[in-house]
Amino acid sequence: MANIVIVGTQWGDEGKGKIVDLLADVADVVVRFQGGNNAGHTMVVNGEQFISHLVPSGILQKKTCYIGNGVVVDPKVLIDEMEYLLCRGIDISPEKLKISALAHIIMPYHCQMDVARESLKGKNKIGTTGRGIGPCYEDKVSRQGIRLVELIDPELFRERLLAIIDEKNFYLQQYLSSSAVDFQAVLDVFSQYAERLKPHVANISVELHEAIMAGKQLLFEGAQGTHLDIDHGTYPFVTSSNTVAGNACCGSGVGPKHITGVMGIVKAYTTRVGQGPFPSELFDDIGNRIQQKGAEFGATTGRKRRCGWLDMVVLNNAVRLNGLTSLAITKLDVLGGLDTLSICTGYAYKDKILKEFPANLKMLSECRPIYETLPGWSEDISNIRCREELPKNTRNYLSRIEELTQTPIGIISVGPGRDETIVVRHPFSGA
Ligand code: GDP
Ligand code: IMO
Ligand code: MG
Repeated sequence: MANIVIVGTQWGDEGKGKIVDLLADVADVVVRFQGGNNAGHTMVVNGEQFISHLVPSGILQKKTCYIGNGVVVDPKVLIDEMEYLLCRGIDISPEKLKISALAHIIMPYHCQMDVARESLKGKNKIGTTGRGIGPCYEDKVSRQGIRLVELIDPELFRERLLAIIDEKNFYLQQYLSSSAVDFQAVLDVFSQYAERLKPHVANISVELHEAIMAGKQLLFEGAQGTHLDIDHGTYPFVTSSNTVAGNACCGSGVGPKHITGVMGIVKAYTTRVGQGPFPSELFDDIGNRIQQKGAEFGATTGRKRRCGWLDMVVLNNAVRLNGLTSLAITKLDVLGGLDTLSICTGYAYKDKILKEFPANLKMLSECRPIYETLPGWSEDISNIRCREELPKNTRNYLSRIEELTQTPIGIISVGPGRDETIVVRHPFSGA
């Protein structure tokens, strides 16, 4: 039996949704463990596209999906997403979708604060998704948050909201020049959300434990990417949760001994949405070409993604931080048609060559990428389903990634569709 964690290795949008959907076929249970509706995970099945923000990407494979305690839940977004899935014929009954009673709730003041703070910061903004993620995690850590377990208890919810609303409104109005939140209006509408979500509330840790004891296979779905991690990413240009694999345990209530593998999702090049350093970013025609061919627009905010070459300093940082046991290379088809491809193998900083990601952001922004160049390929690879049948230069590119990371490639994705995939070694095969 295998229990696998899926994480993004770069700055998000690596194609986690596609790979989770694919692997959910042999998993019994899929668990989201951090982040919120800042995530946008795309699945394409039989030509139909689905984007999920909160519901785990195993839902299309009819697996039991869990939203863990580490996730921050905007109830309206979740309910809308459930309705959207229901309309498309997907079973989202309480047996299929369960939410941890311990998950924190994103409140309207969190969203307002997120947006108002960003506009106050002006050119120094982080470029958040504006979904209230940071302020919600702040309240969780400062022990002022409201969890699902409180939301579904009318008396407790009233009490918790009353205890916090004055402070929130003072800050919103006096410091952020934003509008106040109306206590009664929030109480009324959130009480309706509570009724809708109540049947889905569960003790996730207990249920996952029972699943493990029954020999079921768990698939943990990370959101964002390693370099957006609150501790290990390009702080402060990061999200507000730990995105690394270790948090799969904290964010779901499962002990580390049950995790048997960690697959890192690697886009064949690099993208980033929002502000922050990005050493291998391209500002030329090649960058534009990749952006257009890869349709690099954010699945949540629609923002254009910044594009650049694959960066081994970034990737090796992810290999170490997550303890990756295998890689899934995605969007390889997008690189077709380029004469040469570059891989960043280190950073030049003053008279030094850095192989490790520097903690000092000023230093990182002054790093210049050192490139190794490889020949490209012109063939369309989207119909290939076997690694050996890929063009020689494509195979060389993949082998070089394996060499530089000392990590085997388990999956190669050559298109957005579920079937546009080469499975080299299935992570649930136990190897
Ligand atoms: P996630 O946040 O990591 O789940 O990734 P997103 O869904 O935000 O972004 C990945 C985008 O690339 C989506 O539009 C996917 O449909 C698409 N995609 C995933 N894998 C491939 C691939 O191998 N080739 C191409 N062309 N598109 C892909
Ligand atoms: P998925 O799961 C890419 C980025 C935002 C911003 C920073 C902080 O689809 O890969 P936040 O709203 O979290 O406070 O924003 O993090 N960001 C993402 N970038 N993919 C994501 O999720 C992201 N979630 C947050 O653009 O730079
Ligand atoms: Mg995304």
